[in-house]
Amino acid sequence: MRLIKKFTAMAMAVLMAASIAACGSKAEEPAEAPAAAPEAEAPEAEAPETEAPAEGEEPAAGGNIGVCIYKFDDAFMTTYRNALQEILEGKGYTVTFMDGKNDQAEQNNQINNFITQKVDALIINPVMTSAADQIIDMVKTAGIPTVLINREPTAEQMAAYDKLVYVGCDARQSGTMQGELILDTENKGDINGDGKISYIMIQGDPENIDAQYRTEFSVKALTDAGLEVEELDLQRGDWDRNKGQEIAQNDLAKFGEKIEVVFCNNDDMAIGALQAIQAAGRKVNEDIYLVGVDALDAALNEVVNGNMTGTVLNDAQGQAEGAVAAMEELLGGKTYAEGEQSIYVDYVKVTPENAADFQ
Ligand code: GAL
Repeated sequence: MRLIKKFTAMAMAVLMAASIAACGSKAEEPAEAPAAAPEAEAPEAEAPETEAPAEGEEPAAGGNIGVCIYKFDDAFMTTYRNALQEILEGKGYTVTFMDGKNDQAEQNNQINNFITQKVDALIINPVMTSAADQIIDMVKTAGIPTVLINREPTAEQMAAYDKLVYVGCDARQSGTMQGELILDTENKGDINGDGKISYIMIQGDPENIDAQYRTEFSVKALTDAGLEVEELDLQRGDWDRNKGQEIAQNDLAKFGEKIEVVFCNNDDMAIGALQAIQAAGRKVNEDIYLVGVDALDAALNEVVNGNMTGTVLNDAQGQAEGAVAAMEELLGGKTYAEGEQSIYVDYVKVTPENAADFQ
């Protein structure tokens, strides 16, 4: 499938460079504990601890950047957050990261605090895509250049503010690639030869467009290829490893050998599902297929070891570089017209053949 790319010439060049740079880079192992980013929350004082420069001290070049992450305790967003931190600090910005703890009201407070502090720019990974209007209204009223990441609002919503850009990926592409990973197997996913591919779908948070599109397009790739499919179960695992494990365990107990394919909307849930698959005495790529998205280190290892059929690189490094490039354009005074406010980074299909390139 071809992506519709809405790049300015300059952003395109920057993002291509970012993608190339990211090619040999690694997707970090999910951190159980929130990683290196500074914990900027003070329970009593709502304001983040962005330190004012001491007297006589020059403020960091580039100014103060506020970054809101939907929750720190998310494997992929931890990788992404670490990449953002390294890039921004490497460029001399003073950065404060806030943990939205999966709570939109909390994130709204954090955004308001950043506004009160008059940060120079914001990078926001919304908790709820449905809160986009509210978020855009806040940053527009404050006149703060803003880059939204990871959870894409509609073009109409973004059109309300010309100093706003979304940097992310087109989740349809990752879903399609997951389907292709199954089509590339020797029996095209029909292990028992009954003429249909029987699968379970372990979905991310269904409020999130990534979960909706990956669910739809992974299966669409199979039906578009003329294959018959049977959905045995679809459950929300909210991007979470433990939930992925539980869902797969229950489904394996319920449907047993009928399950030929386990589609997971992300790798963390796939790693959980793998634990259940192994506990049930099943063997990936022999009597069951398993695919994820993200290319976390743990998943790349399992792809190499033959315990996952494949995954799809969700390029955290490329997206972080793209987000910072877009932010700098906004800081330089650039404004964006409706329909040009989404900048996409490509996904990459990961198989045992190329997995090592991403480790
Ligand atoms: C997806 C990613 C998931 C999760 C989610 C959060 O792009 O694949 O692992 O991080 O974003 O919105």
